[in-house]
Order: sequence, then C-alpha cells, then structure tokens
Amino acid sequence: MKSKKIIVALTGASGIDYGIEVIKALSSHNIETHVIISEWAKQVIENESFNTLDDFKKLPDYLYKENDMSAAISSSSTIIDGMVIIPATVKTVSNIAHANTDNLIARAADIMLKMRKPLVIGIRETPLSPACLQNLNQLSTFGAIIFPLSPGFYHKPETIQDLVNFITGKALDCLNIPNFAEDSKVHYNSYHY
Ligand SMILES: Cc1cc2nc3c(=O)[nH]c(=O)nc-3n(C[C@H](O)[C@H](O)[C@H](O)COP(=O)(O)O)c2cc1C
Repeated sequence: MKSKKIIVALTGASGIDYGIEVIKALSSHNIETHVIISEWAKQVIENESFNTLDDFKKLPDYLYKENDMSAAISSSSTIIDGMVIIPATVKTVSNIAHANTDNLIARAADIMLKMRKPLVIGIRETPLSPACLQNLNQLSTFGAIIFPLSPGFYHKPETIQDLVNFITGKALDCLNIPNFAEDSKVHYNSYHY
C-alpha cells in the first residue's frame, strides 16, 4: 500500500528532466505516481532529456495521455493528495488560470483547486509576459504554489544533476514530502537558509 497519491504533469517546456526526477523521487518515497504527459512534452523529452521516452514510460505507476478525459483522475471522486506540474508551459498556466479544462492536465489541476489540495506549478519561461504574470498571480490567489524553475547556486552545483536535484527537493518541499530519499543514495537537497 502506497502512502500517498500524487499527480505529476509534464508539459512541453524546457527542463523536462526536472519532472522526470520528481517522478523518480516520489517513487523512492513509496508514493503512487499518476503521470500525465502532454504531446509537446514527449517532443521535449526527445529533444533535450538525458532519459529516453521508452525509459520514461517505465517510471510512473499510472501514465495518462493529455486527452484521456475518461481517466479516473479526471474526477474529484478519485482522492489525490496533490499535484505538481513540472515543467509547466505558459499555455498550460493560461488554461488553468481560466478553467479551460479541455485536457486532463488542466482538468486535474482544476480539481486540486476546488478540493483545496496542493497544486504546485513549476513555470519554465523567461522573461515572463504580462499575460503570463497575470495568470500566475491569479493562480497564486486561487491557492496554487507558483514555483519558478530557477535553481539556486549556494550548494555549489558541479553537474546538471546537482541542479535537477535542487529543484526536485524544492518540489517535494512544496508537496510536504521529506526531501531525503531514504532508500536511495540521492539527497534531494534544497538547502533551507
Ligand atoms: C523544444 C521546445 C521547448 C519549449 N520550451 C518552452 C518553454 O520553456 N516554456 C513554454 O512555455 N513553452 C515552451 N515551448 C512551447 C510549448 O511546447 C507550446 O506552447 C505548447 O503548445 C505547449 O503545450 P502543452 O502545455 O500542452 O505542453 C517549447 C516547445 C518546444 C518544441
């Protein structure tokens, strides 16, 4: 029996390995992962990830396509403990801010907001347009945690993996999950100062 159920959504933004590492970290904490991947996120995995699409597909307990509106997590009757969208595109942020729930990612996020469950949005874009800033502000007002994918450097990262671990640790913090993987050698260290 897994301790919690968390939705992880990957959208078509750069920084896709942040999302993949979050799935690995949640699994190492015995958390049931429900992963939604957008069509553009698949493209980004092929473009930039250190993971192959086939390897990625083996990670989640449950994997959904973005257009699978009949999935169990499309209903608030399925009890979920929280959701993180990482990386989150400007487009998906806009969809959620305006309750455009025409795909499973926006639908599941809208359920988190209405059920008052943690919704963590790892926005990946720079600079940010006025419209995107307005949408992020709206989502923060609705209760979402806005989580810019901007790793700190105070832990003196030496590799890309160090940067990915930093962001992964912060994502776990936002979901109220201890950021130390007990059964792995990886310390998802977000260094609280
Ligand atoms: C390689 C690649 C990188 C992209 N990076 C970003 C990004 O960092 N942020 C962003 O908002 N959109 C980015 N886009 C554009 C989005 O993929 C595009 O707006 C898409 O419609 C988003 O759809 P989704 O949110 O359903 O995945 C990127 C597209 C590609 C192909």
